[in-house]
Amino acid sequence: HGSLRRLDLSNNFIRQLHTLALPYLEQLDLSSNQLDLISEGAFENLARLEELNLSRNVLNNNLGSNSKALQSVSGLKILDLSMNGLRDEAVERYLQNKSSLDQLKMSGNALTRLSYSLFKESKGLRSITIEDNQISVIEQGTFEPLRHLEMLNLARNNLAHICDFKLHQVKYMNLSWNSIEFFVTQEDNLFYRLEILDLSHNKLLYFPIVPKMNRLKYLHLQNNMVGALNSEAAMVSEANALYSEIIKERTVRKNNLHSNWRLMPLIYIDLSYNHFRSFPLETLSLLSSLETLNFSHNCLQNIIWKVRSANASGYRRQLFFSSLKHLNMQSNGLVYISPLFLKALTQIETLNLQDNSVQPCASMDHLQSPQSTQPMNTNTSCIVFGQLSTLKHLNLKENNIEVLQPNTFQKNSLISLNLARNPRMVMQTKAFEGVPKTLQSLIISEINMTSSDFSLPCMPMLTQLNMSSNRLDMIPSSLSCSPLREIDIRDNRFVSLNHSLIRALSEHLKLIYVSGNHFNCCDSEWLTVLNELEIKLPDINDTVCFTIYENVAMTGYRKKTSSDCLFHPKSQEIHFGQMIIIVIFVAVILTVLIISIRKVCCTQISFIV
Ligand SMILES: *[C@@H]1O[C@H](CO)[C@@H](O)[C@H](O)[C@H]1NC(C)=O
Ligand SMILES: *[C@@H]1O[C@H](CO)[C@@H](O)[C@H](O)[C@H]1NC(C)=O
Ligand SMILES: *[C@@H]1O[C@H](CO)[C@@H](O)[C@H](O)[C@H]1NC(C)=O
Ligand SMILES: *[C@@H]1O[C@H](CO)[C@@H](O)[C@H](O)[C@H]1NC(C)=O
Ligand SMILES: *[C@@H]1O[C@H](CO)[C@@H](O)[C@H](O)[C@H]1NC(C)=O
Ligand SMILES: *[C@@H]1O[C@H](CO)[C@@H](O)[C@H](O)[C@H]1NC(C)=O
Ligand SMILES: *[C@@H]1O[C@H](CO)[C@@H](O)[C@H](O)[C@H]1NC(C)=O
Ligand SMILES: *[C@@H]1O[C@H](CO)[C@@H](O)[C@H](O)[C@H]1NC(C)=O
Repeated sequence: HGSLRRLDLSNNFIRQLHTLALPYLEQLDLSSNQLDLISEGAFENLARLEELNLSRNVLNNNLGSNSKALQSVSGLKILDLSMNGLRDEAVERYLQNKSSLDQLKMSGNALTRLSYSLFKESKGLRSITIEDNQISVIEQGTFEPLRHLEMLNLARNNLAHICDFKLHQVKYMNLSWNSIEFFVTQEDNLFYRLEILDLSHNKLLYFPIVPKMNRLKYLHLQNNMVGALNSEAAMVSEANALYSEIIKERTVRKNNLHSNWRLMPLIYIDLSYNHFRSFPLETLSLLSSLETLNFSHNCLQNIIWKVRSANASGYRRQLFFSSLKHLNMQSNGLVYISPLFLKALTQIETLNLQDNSVQPCASMDHLQSPQSTQPMNTNTSCIVFGQLSTLKHLNLKENNIEVLQPNTFQKNSLISLNLARNPRMVMQTKAFEGVPKTLQSLIISEINMTSSDFSLPCMPMLTQLNMSSNRLDMIPSSLSCSPLREIDIRDNRFVSLNHSLIRALSEHLKLIYVSGNHFNCCDSEWLTVLNELEIKLPDINDTVCFTIYENVAMTGYRKKTSSDCLFHPKSQEIHFGQMIIIVIFVAVILTVLIISIRKVCCTQISFIV
């Protein structure tokens, strides 16, 4: 129809395209066909075409007529040429006469080199995505003239170095999954608009040297080799030496890395999966706006306060991470964390220490002063979490914690606490006594505790409790003062649940997971109560119970209103036991009788035999 505005021909078997006469057409989707020939005049009558999707075709052939066709649609705003097997020459020709082009996608082609003439007829581009090609060279002047360019995605290519980043107009830059060893910006006095820089999954050995004046907020450096060099000082000086070498600077030798990092308004940095063996205290403390730091999956083992002193006095300087709220230290083999490091975390809210070897210790009232801190024996030192008064979420899962002492968390205002998978943990009596009144979520699964090891104080805010995979047979009745919404008691040794406790919790309780226990079918009033209160039991179909004869599925058992429990369960057991005793008793009496009768008979009335 002549007035058509949008035409979707995707996912067909179109091989050739000839003239389309649709003067009002604005969007044309030809993706996922087998298109390899577009005749010269095919688009001539599409005067209003703005969006053209040609992805997933085979347009690397017939360059002559295809490029003429593409050149005739000069009003295009969005063009997708991904997955066409395109080489450098084809792309250069297809991009001619595209002065109004705004967004371009060319992912999954065979580009190796971006030349300065590539975008000379599409200078209005705002967003370019060329992921997953084999680009190893970007000529100078390729992107610089694109004054509106804001988003540039070159992920999954073969780039090895960024020697001189000059794109002061770009806000989003994705260079992940290349082989980049360093990223350097030569210092100038221009203002860079860069906000998001993704350099993850590369081969960086150093922190990038960023533009001096920038707006960088998100820096992704995960999965690189930063920190592989021994110390922070060595890394910083090598990065600066590299910088001097690249810009052939001979005389001035200042700390470019640090002077530029200091001005960076970064709020997020991901350094996970790198090779750090020591924590880069000085470099990271320069980031005064930093809120989230992911340092998981490095090889720290210890965080020792090793800071160059500012003067000769020799005192250890206290630095601060004054905006840091979320710190992820998972899987670092951490044993020791300097108290000065904890002291530096003045705003910390979330601390993830999962999969380390830290031992919490009871709150101490006097903290060591900075001057007195000696390098401690890392084997015996424990960590005073009570010091972190702003902390809300603490994850200590999988730390091989040995003892949980009373008052460990006393001065925190924790909202969630995860102590799961510490199977050797001994909880001293009243270990949870000091757990703050603010706690809403507690995870104590896989601790191997029994009900006699376990007591909880009244926790007036607790809404979620996970006690799965222990050896518990009782829910502590002190929980009746918590507004619990969700309880997980899977894989324990429950035989029954206290139905008066359930009634006490019924005002808030919504969900309870119960499978993996050894319930008594004949003592299942709790289940009736739960059903009556409409509390959800998501895994009830996987729950089994036992009768004197067999283990059966709990739901199945209840449906058949079995006769296995016709007697009251307890009296039935007694009945059965009594029967056995009576039978044995009678048997013994009879045996004795028979033997004595036979004796008498054999000696005196033998004629009977
Ligand atoms: C083009 O079509 C493909 C699917 O065939 C889709 O994934 C892609 O997002 C489309 N491109 C644009 C720019 O909308
Ligand atoms: C470029 O586009 C204009 C306007 O649509 C058109 O007149 C001109 O022929 C095109 N140039 C080429 C080389 O196709
Ligand atoms: C960068 O590109 C990669 C690969 O497509 C993607 O996974 C990642 O999320 C992108 N990074 C950002 C910050 O958008
Ligand atoms: C690092 O941690 C942050 C916040 O905890 C998270 O958003 C991000 O996905 C993590 N990065 C990786 C690679 O897991
Ligand atoms: C910790 O103990 C191990 C073995 O018991 C020992 O090799 C190591 O030197 C000790 N570390 C410190 C700092 O004492
Ligand atoms: C749990 O405790 C029991 C009894 O003390 C012990 O036999 C078992 O090995 C422990 N399990 C784990 C995983 O530590
Ligand atoms: C409770 O913890 C276990 C193991 O840590 C986990 O598998 C389970 O999903 C958790 N339960 C809920 C309800 O999140
Ligand atoms: C069951 O719960 C109620 C209410 O919390 C409590 O008073 C009672 O002692 C509990 N019974 C058992 C056997 O624990």
